[in-house]
Amino acid sequence: MVPLGGQRSGDSRKRGGTQMTHILHRQLRGLLPTAVGGHGIVIVDADGKEYLDASGGAAVSCLGHGHPDVMAAMHAQIDRIAYAHTSFFTTQVAETLADHLIAHAPSGMSHVYLVSGGSEAIEAALKLARQYFVEIGEPQRRHFIARRQSYHGNTLGALAVGGNEWRRRQFAPLLIDVTHVSPCYEYRDRRADESPEAYGERLASELEDAIEKLGPRNVIGFVAEPVVGATLGAAPAVPGYFRRIREICDRNGILLIADEVMCGMGRTGTLYAVEQEGIAPDLVAIAKGLGGGYQPIGAVLVAQRIIAALERGSGFFQHGHTYIGHPVACAAALAVQRVIERDHLLDAVKTLGARLAQRLRTAFGDHPHVGDIRGRGLFMAIELVDDKVSKRPFDPALRLHARIKAEAMARGLMVYPMGGTIDGRAGDHVLIAPPFITTPAEIDEVVRRLGMAVDAALEAVSTVRQ
Ligand SMILES: Cc1ncc(COP(=O)(O)O)c(C=O)c1O
Repeated sequence: MVPLGGQRSGDSRKRGGTQMTHILHRQLRGLLPTAVGGHGIVIVDADGKEYLDASGGAAVSCLGHGHPDVMAAMHAQIDRIAYAHTSFFTTQVAETLADHLIAHAPSGMSHVYLVSGGSEAIEAALKLARQYFVEIGEPQRRHFIARRQSYHGNTLGALAVGGNEWRRRQFAPLLIDVTHVSPCYEYRDRRADESPEAYGERLASELEDAIEKLGPRNVIGFVAEPVVGATLGAAPAVPGYFRRIREICDRNGILLIADEVMCGMGRTGTLYAVEQEGIAPDLVAIAKGLGGGYQPIGAVLVAQRIIAALERGSGFFQHGHTYIGHPVACAAALAVQRVIERDHLLDAVKTLGARLAQRLRTAFGDHPHVGDIRGRGLFMAIELVDDKVSKRPFDPALRLHARIKAEAMARGLMVYPMGGTIDGRAGDHVLIAPPFITTPAEIDEVVRRLGMAVDAALEAVSTVRQ
């Protein structure tokens, strides 16, 4: 068993390799260090060990930990009012956050639906898309199309549109029927004799075929991460791909739903990843970098024409949760977004991202087991391969990604390794998504420690194989 990483003997809750706990942790076996503090890009555990948070948790902590402006905004909001149910009241802080988000949103967006996380944002987007068609008199539209190897969340609707086979398998009998088409995965799927544009065109044709098969007037929406995060490892689309997707959706009256839960809110160097594709979706789900981890918050940005349909029709969205528009969460998100704007952090993401990409290329460009280095801004990944020429992955049983995570944690480094990159089973990648306030020297240190962790994990793998 691979330990969850970084644990030392000082924590009194640890007995004989298992943790004395009443929490149903993600893993029932193994040990987790206890986080007791954080500052800048550092998290400190109960033993005083420091970890460089080079993944922002799961691409969440865009301002690092303990940012004074965000803390102050949250404290002030708690002193004003901590909670008011949204069926009785609105709050100024929620209104101001929505104004801020719409002022900076992709074109055509007019409203924001506030939720408490990424999966909730996806669920709301799916239901709103369906309700839109009911409102405009097209209730026969009932199918979603999404992509294999995507991750859209763990609630049943989000899991159904998600395309990661391993995550879906045991829950498949409970999931709505969703059609999945190929991801845009240039490293493995673009043919040697194909230009990036021709590859994108081939994928667009596949979507057109899928729409044709379902009947164009039966499809609600196409759901995609503009830069695929957790399950594919910072994989951007090829040039022109999303413009073709937008055209196809428009031609068939289908809504384009962008999942920017991980890649949005500045992570790729623009506030929204779709800005770099030159398109505007109809619905955009955001979460992680919205509140930077200071509070659980997500949102769906909604195009004016969808709102107009609801206004003309039923006059309400048939949805809701107890904590939507939570004032303290809104205060945290508003503060995070204002700091990003005030401190020109999108420029920092571009500059630091270029440095990160360059350092990764220096460290891993000639590495015999790093097949691809990809990503945008501070959203980068390396993909590990057993054989670089054939791109053969490591045997999944070796759990290389888990070993890299453990070796990194042992060296005081948080990165976000994942297995199943290729098909939900085989393939390993490591996602690197440091906070936007990381210093250039910290970027260099992150790559140095990652190099050591990768080599230590590979050494362990070669020992196991002997
Ligand atoms: C692209 C994407 N969508 C949705 C989600 C689900 O978000 P949450 O874990 O906040 O429910 C995630 C989480 O990793 C994600 O990366």
